[in-house]
Amino acid sequence: MSDANVVEILNAGVLSLELSRRAKKNAITTEMYAGLASAFERASDDPEIGAVLLHGQPDLFTSGNDLGNFLSPEARASGAGHRFLHAIAGCRAPIVAAVGGHAIGIGTTMLMHCDIVVAATSARFQLPFVKLGLSPEAGSSMLLPLMAGPRLAAELLLLGDAFDANTAKEAGIVNTIVKEDQLLAHALALAERLAVQPRDALRTTKALLKRSLGRTALEAIEDEYPDFERLLASDEARAIFRSFLAR
Ligand code: COA
Repeated sequence: MSDANVVEILNAGVLSLELSRRAKKNAITTEMYAGLASAFERASDDPEIGAVLLHGQPDLFTSGNDLGNFLSPEARASGAGHRFLHAIAGCRAPIVAAVGGHAIGIGTTMLMHCDIVVAATSARFQLPFVKLGLSPEAGSSMLLPLMAGPRLAAELLLLGDAFDANTAKEAGIVNTIVKEDQLLAHALALAERLAVQPRDALRTTKALLKRSLGRTALEAIEDEYPDFERLLASDEARAIFRSFLAR
């Protein structure tokens, strides 16, 4: 399923996916998750796709999950967010992400499934799960300690404060920091370089790197899911979402 708020362009072996819902700070809806899931599933299966470039606009990646959808039984029952996580974590094609401005919640955790992440100096990351009455998702409770080390992972996940691109680089979430006006060109050039590499060798190397983690990210996603769902339904979390939406 495609969605108007996820713009897909395939050019020279690079599938570009743009989050495009600026009026709501690119907050990700059920429909957008479904569109992204289809795109990552396609990239995984289609040998013509050499790399995926995931981006928003240079000054805005995403404010994370749509908080209204968190309150909607239909949206939660759709399973689209879960399907998206499986699709991005299991995508056999390499993924480059370009991140500027806000990258909140899943906007940060989805980066842990990307292979190369370029951030603008303006990028602001945040893992506000506890502040929202929630627990980590997307396998981040396993991936962040591996990437950042247990101390920094605990600080970022337990306090839930926003952090800049330098801290994200220190945490292993980001490879490179560039000026905002160079963000998309820099990330696209990397994706184009990946797309002309020998395809089988590239995908095999990505799979071997993922396998080296031992416990897979998919297992961690499943492990986290019951707690996330339980807390999502709690009165405390629902009151926090309502108060944000009623501002
Ligand atoms: N879900 C639903 N709507 C969202 C949203 C989200 N995650 N993030 C922003 N929006 C909406 C706002 O409700 C507002 O809608 P309105 O114009 O109809 O009132 C619009 O997007 C603009 O957001 P606003 O808060 O006015 O912009 P800002 O520049 O002052 O702040 C953020 C930007 C991203 C810091 C702030 O919107 C925010 O904290 N969003 C929630 C982040 C979050 O908790 N995400 C969930 C992670 S699990």
